Amino acid sequence: MIHIFDANFVISNTNYLNCPKHNFAEFAFIGRSNVGKSSLINFLCNKKKLAKTSATPGKTQLINHFLIHLMDGQKKGKNFFLTDLPGYGYAKKSMKDRKSWSKMIEDYLTKRKELTHSFVLIDSRLPPQKIDLEFLSYLDDWKIQFSIIFTKTDKEKPAKVEKNIQLFFDELKKTWQFLPRYFTTSVELKKGDKEILEFLFNKII
Ligand code: GTP
Ligand code: MG
Repeated sequence: MIHIFDANFVISNTNYLNCPKHNFAEFAFIGRSNVGKSSLINFLCNKKKLAKTSATPGKTQLINHFLIHLMDGQKKGKNFFLTDLPGYGYAKKSMKDRKSWSKMIEDYLTKRKELTHSFVLIDSRLPPQKIDLEFLSYLDDWKIQFSIIFTKTDKEKPAKVEKNIQLFFDELKKTWQFLPRYFTTSVELKKGDKEILEFLFNKII
């Protein structure tokens, strides 16, 4: 079974230029503020306090790098990096803060050579949100490879979650030629980790 053997915080940055140089793969977690990015990283790594989480939005403010050691059943290990990013759509931020945030994230996503793949987290409780669809179209413009993770599936009935996912993809189909791969997760019920870990394992050379 694929599992994360070790995970450690490396460094926080505001500027992609100061992020650690390495030859490993790097995966970013991005999405609306409070969608559950930091919680999901902790769940995947099986370390409760690795990334800082909060019930109030706007907790993660910097680009946070974590070095991860992944193992498969044969005890073959692979190293890679995860990044926990600040969320978008945080209403309490001033215009100036929002601009510097956008610049920090845009620079990181578009200029970070080490970035292998991004996970865009979407709240499975909600019907398609304009802010998420807009963010995906930016990623498309920037030619960023990504998949989607629908989070907090424990918070609604399965039929509602499925409906929201369906509606989200219906929206994407209007403008996208290829649809991204997607995962569903619940940190509360500890669901969805294996599929993501397997995906990560196969993406790492
Ligand atoms: P920012 O750093 O502010 O952008 O937020 P974030 O996306 O990192 O969210 P965070 O992981 O801090 O989680 C926000 C809240 O959602 C916390 O109260 C978590 O406990 C809760 N949460 C995250 N994932 C789940 C989940 O799968 N199920 C439930 N029920 N709650 C969750
Ligand atoms: Mg966070």
